[in-house]
Amino acid sequence: MTKEIPIIMMRDIDYIYPNGTEALKKINLNIFKGELVGIMGKNGAGKTSLIRTLNGLIRPTKGSIYIETENASSKSIANLSEKVGIIFQNPYHQLFANSVEEEIKFSLKSFNLDKEEIQIRTDRILNQFDLEKYRTRSPLNLSGGESKKLATASIICRDPDIIIFDEPTLGQDAKEIEFFTNLIKNERNRRKTIIIITHNIEFAYEYLPRTILMADGQIIADGPTKEVLNNEFLITQTSLVLPQIQQFYLALLEQGFQETLDMMSKNEMTDYLRNLLKNSSSKV
Ligand SMILES: Nc1ncnc2c1ncn2[C@@H]1O[C@H](COP(=O)(O)OP(=O)(O)O)[C@@H](O)[C@H]1O
Ligand SMILES: [Mg+2]
Repeated sequence: MTKEIPIIMMRDIDYIYPNGTEALKKINLNIFKGELVGIMGKNGAGKTSLIRTLNGLIRPTKGSIYIETENASSKSIANLSEKVGIIFQNPYHQLFANSVEEEIKFSLKSFNLDKEEIQIRTDRILNQFDLEKYRTRSPLNLSGGESKKLATASIICRDPDIIIFDEPTLGQDAKEIEFFTNLIKNERNRRKTIIIITHNIEFAYEYLPRTILMADGQIIADGPTKEVLNNEFLITQTSLVLPQIQQFYLALLEQGFQETLDMMSKNEMTDYLRNLLKNSSSKV
């Protein structure tokens, strides 16, 4: 069997901002094509700095990055941005055209497509993101959720192989989060590699197979999400709180319930409790 080569390789990455802040320290990381990976950690841990190195917005002070086996240091931001699409936390930093439609067209401009093709792709993405009704509206006059959607659409329309979201669920309502999770499923079916920075532990627990924990510019854990996020020591170190299901499990364990040991999902836990209550009430 041939060994698969990671689509992203980071080797001993350091990054120091011009003001002297050491934002990244000795980062080593492999991410494989088609993976869905979460990055978590306190504010200031270095999460955003880490992803900014991937499309060349900042260049490592030390170490090397390989994207699809090519050394990123030899590539321009424009070049890297065709492979790595980043949707930033604040959509307004990313939106600047006069209308929603122009925003998408502008994003497609560097691809050298003819006018008709640009229009076709623009229409398709506006439809996919349910933004057609805002076609002529200024991006500045969209709601928070809608502007996040537009910022996402303006990256997705470029069809990058690696898609990175910085805090996508922040301030989103249930329907917007559902749209987002469907989008991820969709892109994953297309073998896209997806990285999501999030503070939302319940979201990570439910949707992300692998989680990287960062603290103070370093990676302090990297593994299956359920192992990383159920680890009380790691969670405390990063000022997170244990996932609700794990807190619940620990509380049950304290009461002497051992059977829940292997339960990882809310559904399993709900079924277990339903049966337990049914049995105990039939005994009365
Ligand atoms: N443009 C910048 N100039 C100087 N320091 C910065 C800049 N951006 C971030 N930092 C610092 O780098 C560290 C990591 O920040 P960041 O990568 O934004 O963390 P996170 O995304 O985990 O909150 C922090 O100490 C932060 O204050
Ligand atoms: Mg950040």
